[in-house]
Amino acid sequence: MSKGIEEVVGSAVTIRFDASKCIHSRGCVLGRPDVFVPNAKGEWIHPDAASADEVAELAHNCPSGAITYLRRDGKPQEAPPVVNLVRVRENGPLAFHAELAIDGQDAMLRATLCRCGRSASKPFCDGSHAADGFAATGEPPTSESTPLASRNGAVTITPAKDGPLLIAGNLEIVSGTGRTILRCTKAALCRCGSSANKPFCDGTHKTNGFRAP
Ligand code: SF4
Ligand code: FES
Repeated sequence: MSKGIEEVVGSAVTIRFDASKCIHSRGCVLGRPDVFVPNAKGEWIHPDAASADEVAELAHNCPSGAITYLRRDGKPQEAPPVVNLVRVRENGPLAFHAELAIDGQDAMLRATLCRCGRSASKPFCDGSHAADGFAATGEPPTSESTPLASRNGAVTITPAKDGPLLIAGNLEIVSGTGRTILRCTKAALCRCGSSANKPFCDGTHKTNGFRAP
Protein backbone atom coordinates (compact mmCIF):
# COMPACT_ATOMS: atom_id res chain seq x y z
CA MET A 1 0.00 0.00 0.00
CA SER A 2 1.27 3.51 -0.79
CA LYS A 3 2.76 5.70 1.88
CA GLY A 4 0.14 7.69 3.76
CA ILE A 5 -2.72 5.28 2.94
CA GLU A 6 -4.40 3.52 5.85
CA GLU A 7 -6.93 0.75 5.46
CA VAL A 8 -8.97 -0.57 8.37
CA VAL A 9 -11.19 -3.60 7.89
CA GLY A 10 -14.48 -3.62 9.77
CA SER A 11 -17.11 -6.33 9.92
CA ALA A 12 -19.38 -4.70 7.34
CA VAL A 13 -17.17 -2.11 5.70
CA THR A 14 -13.49 -1.33 5.12
CA ILE A 15 -12.41 2.29 5.41
CA ARG A 16 -9.51 3.60 3.37
CA PHE A 17 -7.87 6.92 4.22
CA ASP A 18 -5.36 8.64 1.93
CA ALA A 19 -3.61 11.35 3.93
CA SER A 20 -2.04 12.85 0.81
CA LYS A 21 -5.48 13.89 -0.46
CA CYS A 22 -7.01 15.19 2.78
CA ILE A 23 -7.69 18.96 2.83
CA HIS A 24 -8.61 18.99 6.52
CA SER A 25 -12.18 20.11 6.08
CA ARG A 26 -12.77 18.02 9.25
CA GLY A 27 -16.15 16.70 8.19
CA CYS A 28 -15.10 13.23 9.34
CA VAL A 29 -13.78 14.02 12.81
CA LEU A 30 -16.61 16.46 13.52
CA GLY A 31 -19.34 14.29 11.96
CA ARG A 32 -18.38 10.98 13.57
CA PRO A 33 -15.66 11.44 16.18
CA ASP A 34 -16.24 7.83 17.24
CA VAL A 35 -15.34 6.55 13.75
CA PHE A 36 -12.52 9.02 13.08
CA VAL A 37 -11.06 9.67 16.50
CA PRO A 38 -8.99 12.84 16.47
CA ASN A 39 -5.62 12.85 18.27
CA ALA A 40 -5.94 9.18 19.24
CA LYS A 41 -2.90 7.22 20.31
CA GLY A 42 -2.77 4.14 18.09
CA GLU A 43 -5.67 3.23 15.80
CA TRP A 44 -7.86 6.25 15.04
CA ILE A 45 -10.21 4.78 12.42
CA HIS A 46 -13.01 2.56 13.73
CA PRO A 47 -15.36 1.26 11.01
CA ASP A 48 -17.40 -0.82 13.47
CA ALA A 49 -18.42 2.25 15.48
CA ALA A 50 -21.01 3.00 12.76
CA SER A 51 -23.19 1.10 10.33
CA ALA A 52 -21.90 0.58 6.79
CA ASP A 53 -24.55 3.05 5.55
CA GLU A 54 -23.29 5.69 7.97
CA VAL A 55 -19.67 5.11 6.94
CA ALA A 56 -20.70 5.43 3.30
CA GLU A 57 -22.45 8.72 4.01
CA LEU A 58 -19.37 10.06 5.82
CA ALA A 59 -17.20 9.14 2.85
CA HIS A 60 -19.60 10.73 0.36
CA ASN A 61 -19.32 13.97 2.31
CA CYS A 62 -15.50 13.94 2.17
CA PRO A 63 -14.84 16.43 -0.64
CA SER A 64 -11.25 15.41 -1.30
CA GLY A 65 -11.83 11.70 -1.76
CA ALA A 66 -9.34 11.03 1.05
CA ILE A 67 -11.96 8.70 2.56
CA THR A 68 -13.20 5.81 0.46
CA TYR A 69 -14.78 2.55 1.50
CA LEU A 70 -15.38 -0.99 0.46
CA ARG A 71 -18.65 -2.49 1.63
CA ARG A 72 -18.40 -6.07 2.83
CA ASP A 73 -22.11 -6.55 3.47
CA GLY A 74 -23.08 -7.22 -0.14
CA LYS A 75 -24.68 -3.80 -0.63
CA PRO A 76 -23.63 -1.59 -3.58
CA GLN A 77 -20.32 0.27 -3.54
CA GLU A 78 -20.14 4.04 -4.11
CA ALA A 79 -21.74 4.96 -7.43
CA PRO A 80 -20.73 7.76 -9.80
CA PRO A 81 -22.90 10.87 -9.51
CA VAL A 82 -25.92 11.44 -11.72
CA VAL A 83 -24.60 14.95 -12.46
CA ASN A 84 -20.87 15.65 -12.78
CA LEU A 85 -19.90 18.74 -10.81
CA VAL A 86 -16.90 20.84 -9.94
CA ARG A 87 -17.49 23.27 -7.11
CA VAL A 88 -15.33 26.41 -6.92
CA ARG A 89 -14.44 26.78 -3.26
CA GLU A 90 -14.02 30.27 -1.84
CA ASN A 91 -10.27 30.92 -1.38
CA GLY A 92 -9.72 27.20 -1.87
CA PRO A 93 -9.51 24.32 -4.32
CA LEU A 94 -11.71 22.96 -7.09
CA ALA A 95 -13.85 20.14 -5.66
CA PHE A 96 -14.78 17.57 -8.32
CA HIS A 97 -17.49 14.93 -8.08
CA ALA A 98 -17.54 12.74 -11.17
CA GLU A 99 -16.12 9.55 -12.60
CA LEU A 100 -12.60 10.95 -12.65
CA ALA A 101 -9.50 9.93 -14.57
CA ILE A 102 -6.76 12.20 -13.30
CA ASP A 103 -3.32 12.05 -14.80
CA GLY A 104 -2.78 8.29 -14.65
CA GLN A 105 -4.10 7.90 -11.09
CA ASP A 106 -6.50 5.15 -10.04
CA ALA A 107 -10.11 5.98 -10.90
CA MET A 108 -11.79 8.18 -8.27
CA LEU A 109 -15.16 9.84 -7.73
CA ARG A 110 -14.22 12.81 -5.55
CA ALA A 111 -11.11 15.00 -5.65
CA THR A 112 -10.01 18.46 -4.58
CA LEU A 113 -7.46 19.94 -6.98
CA CYS A 114 -5.14 22.88 -6.35
CA ARG A 115 -6.06 26.21 -7.91
CA CYS A 116 -3.73 28.47 -5.90
CA GLY A 117 -0.54 27.09 -7.47
CA ARG A 118 1.14 26.41 -4.12
CA SER A 119 0.32 22.78 -3.29
CA ALA A 120 3.30 20.49 -2.84
CA SER A 121 1.24 17.54 -4.08
CA LYS A 122 -0.18 18.93 -7.33
CA PRO A 123 -2.57 18.36 -8.93
CA PHE A 124 -4.15 17.69 -5.51
CA CYS A 125 -4.81 20.37 -2.93
CA ASP A 126 -2.68 20.05 0.21
CA GLY A 127 -4.18 22.96 2.14
CA SER A 128 -1.41 25.44 1.19
CA HIS A 129 -4.04 27.98 0.07
CA ALA A 130 -4.98 28.59 3.71
CA ALA A 131 -1.43 29.03 5.00
CA ASP A 132 -0.53 31.31 2.09
CA GLY A 133 -3.64 33.49 2.25
CA PHE A 134 -4.86 32.65 -1.27
CA ALA A 135 -7.82 34.90 -2.07
CA ALA A 136 -10.18 33.97 -4.89
CA THR A 137 -13.92 34.18 -4.98
CA GLY A 138 -16.09 31.10 -4.91
CA GLU A 139 -18.78 33.10 -6.72
CA PRO A 140 -17.45 33.85 -10.23
CA PRO A 141 -19.94 35.30 -12.73
CA THR A 142 -22.36 33.08 -14.61
CA SER A 143 -21.54 32.36 -18.25
CA GLU A 144 -24.25 31.60 -20.75
CA SER A 145 -24.51 27.88 -21.48
CA THR A 146 -27.14 25.42 -22.58
CA PRO A 147 -28.07 22.20 -20.76
CA LEU A 148 -25.79 19.29 -21.63
CA ALA A 149 -27.19 16.37 -23.63
CA SER A 150 -25.75 14.10 -20.97
CA ARG A 151 -24.77 15.14 -17.43
CA ASN A 152 -22.63 12.26 -16.27
CA GLY A 153 -19.98 9.87 -17.61
CA ALA A 154 -16.19 9.88 -17.50
CA VAL A 155 -14.28 13.12 -16.94
CA THR A 156 -10.60 13.24 -17.84
CA ILE A 157 -8.39 15.80 -16.13
CA THR A 158 -4.95 16.41 -17.59
CA PRO A 159 -2.69 18.87 -15.81
CA ALA A 160 -0.82 20.70 -18.59
CA LYS A 161 2.87 21.17 -17.84
CA ASP A 162 3.31 24.62 -16.27
CA GLY A 163 -0.28 25.34 -17.22
CA PRO A 164 -3.96 24.73 -16.51
CA LEU A 165 -6.08 21.68 -15.76
CA LEU A 166 -7.46 20.48 -19.08
CA ILE A 167 -10.91 18.99 -18.65
CA ALA A 168 -12.70 16.68 -21.08
CA GLY A 169 -16.14 15.25 -20.31
CA ASN A 170 -19.59 16.39 -19.25
CA LEU A 171 -19.15 18.83 -16.39
CA GLU A 172 -21.15 21.51 -14.64
CA ILE A 173 -19.04 24.18 -12.95
CA VAL A 174 -20.85 25.55 -9.91
CA SER A 175 -20.11 28.28 -7.39
CA GLY A 176 -19.58 27.65 -3.71
CA THR A 177 -23.28 28.27 -3.15
CA GLY A 178 -24.31 25.91 -5.95
CA ARG A 179 -25.11 28.42 -8.73
CA THR A 180 -24.29 27.05 -12.18
CA ILE A 181 -21.40 29.01 -13.69
CA LEU A 182 -20.98 26.99 -16.87
CA ARG A 183 -21.99 23.67 -18.40
CA CYS A 184 -19.27 22.33 -20.66
CA THR A 185 -17.59 19.32 -22.20
CA LYS A 186 -14.16 20.96 -22.36
CA ALA A 187 -12.47 23.57 -20.18
CA ALA A 188 -9.07 24.87 -19.13
CA LEU A 189 -9.16 25.70 -15.43
CA CYS A 190 -6.52 27.88 -13.80
CA ARG A 191 -4.18 26.15 -11.38
CA CYS A 192 -1.44 28.79 -11.20
CA GLY A 193 -3.59 31.05 -9.02
CA SER A 194 -3.07 34.19 -11.12
CA SER A 195 -5.74 34.19 -13.82
CA ALA A 196 -7.87 37.33 -13.89
CA ASN A 197 -10.75 35.17 -15.10
CA LYS A 198 -10.79 32.40 -12.45
CA PRO A 199 -11.76 29.62 -12.44
CA PHE A 200 -10.73 29.69 -16.11
CA CYS A 201 -7.19 29.98 -17.43
CA ASP A 202 -6.44 33.28 -19.17
CA GLY A 203 -2.84 32.49 -20.15
CA THR A 204 -1.19 34.30 -17.24
CA HIS A 205 0.73 31.12 -16.34
CA LYS A 206 2.96 31.84 -19.35
CA THR A 207 4.27 35.05 -17.82
CA ASN A 208 4.20 34.51 -14.04
CA GLY A 209 6.84 31.79 -13.81
CA PHE A 210 4.38 29.03 -12.78
CA ARG A 211 6.06 25.64 -12.75
CA ALA A 212 4.17 22.36 -12.34
CA PRO A 213 4.67 18.92 -13.82
S1 SF4 B 1 -11.02 16.10 3.47
FE1 SF4 B 1 -12.13 14.21 4.03
S2 SF4 B 1 -10.65 13.03 5.28
FE2 SF4 B 1 -9.90 15.14 5.20
S3 SF4 B 1 -10.75 16.11 7.07
FE3 SF4 B 1 -12.21 16.52 5.36
S4 SF4 B 1 -13.73 14.86 5.50
FE4 SF4 B 1 -11.93 14.23 6.72
S1 FES C 1 -3.14 28.17 -15.30
FE1 FES C 1 -3.50 30.11 -14.30
S2 FES C 1 -3.77 31.47 -16.00
FE2 FES C 1 -3.40 29.54 -16.98
